[in-house]
Amino acid sequence: MSFEIPTTRGSYVVEFLEGALRKAASIAPPPYGAEKVLLVADATTAALYGEQVARSYQEHAQVVTFTLPSGESSKSAATLEALWRFAASENMHRKDVIVALGGGVVGDVAGFAAATFARGIPWIALPTTLLAMVDASIGGKTAIDLPEGKNLAGSFHPPIHVLADPETLQTLPEREFRTGLAEVVKHALISPGPLRANLLDQQAAINAREPFTLAALLPEAASVKVEIVRVDETEQGERAYLNYGHTLAHAIETCQGYQGLSHGEAVAVGLRCAALIARKIGLPDLVDEHDALLTAFKLRQPVELPASDDLVTAMRRDKKYDQGLVWILLEELGRPTTARVPDNVVLEVLGELGAE
Ligand SMILES: NC(=O)c1ccc[n+]([C@@H]2O[C@H](COP(=O)([O-])OP(=O)(O)OC[C@H]3O[C@@H](n4cnc5c(N)ncnc54)[C@H](O)[C@@H]3O)[C@@H](O)[C@H]2O)c1
Ligand SMILES: [Zn+2]
Repeated sequence: MSFEIPTTRGSYVVEFLEGALRKAASIAPPPYGAEKVLLVADATTAALYGEQVARSYQEHAQVVTFTLPSGESSKSAATLEALWRFAASENMHRKDVIVALGGGVVGDVAGFAAATFARGIPWIALPTTLLAMVDASIGGKTAIDLPEGKNLAGSFHPPIHVLADPETLQTLPEREFRTGLAEVVKHALISPGPLRANLLDQQAAINAREPFTLAALLPEAASVKVEIVRVDETEQGERAYLNYGHTLAHAIETCQGYQGLSHGEAVAVGLRCAALIARKIGLPDLVDEHDALLTAFKLRQPVELPASDDLVTAMRRDKKYDQGLVWILLEELGRPTTARVPDNVVLEVLGELGAE
């Protein structure tokens, strides 16, 4: 199953195929003229899948490997510099290619290295987390974090090919799988298609990571992002809807110094919060519909939230503050909109969610 995404600089393919990693180079080959492949992985994905991917690309080019420590801290300026210098020491030139094997962290930092090394070289994304397959690897955004905030330096530099092997999800830790499911739930709520009904129908098989079910679910969930980035490549409008549930999620993560809830757990609270706010300001009451999805994927657990005032302060620092917090809310299932929400409504809802 594949999609083609047009961009101002040519189009690229997003593809899902069981067992793809073993033959990655024949499906997502290095571009014409490439002599070297810089394979970037984190410690986990290098150990699990590095060898088979390297072996595949060795049939086409010389492969050099750079392994990052696993985790968000690798999305740093230090890693980026290390990647640049490694590429330079390997005499990589503009026709060579970076292959990013891993989750959103590897994709974001390796993609940004590709965007900037030698003023831009091609890259191929081999996403190995659910979040990266349905979200991060699609749309061409690359970034690193700064001590001042997440994703503060980056650029739009789409890969030339995104190739996802659903088999890799079998090794994903449970918490990472849930984080991906939170984004899938978000996609289901903001899109009018059948994804929401399918998720509810197939919840048991999805939770059990039944391979046939995942193989069908992944392209369906990814297509929501594909459709949005097709019409809004550089986040001028609609693409912001992908941040549904993320206003509060980011605030929770910031207040907890990224040591508390996982991204998916925070998004789950954010989605519920958006539904409660919508109901309170007179939009349709879709709280039960949100809860049904969150419950199905064990994303409605009791959680400890930071203090309401701290959350509101963190949200205000968000660029979407305009005389009240601008929220993405649903005016019906599958139909997001934006609305300015007064602080007192937000505080009330945070109280209902259990924040002090
Ligand atoms: N560029 C974008 O548009 C975009 C969109 C959403 C999120 N992001 C970014 O994505 C990042 C989060 O991505 P993520 O959730 O994939 O995190 P991640 O890349 O850190 O991966 C999560 C963990 O799973 C491990 N892992 C990866 N694949 C595995 C596998 N198949 N089996 C076992 N373990 C595996 C990793 O080593 C890591 O420890 C954030 O930095 C976020 O900002 C980017
Ligand atoms: Zn997210």
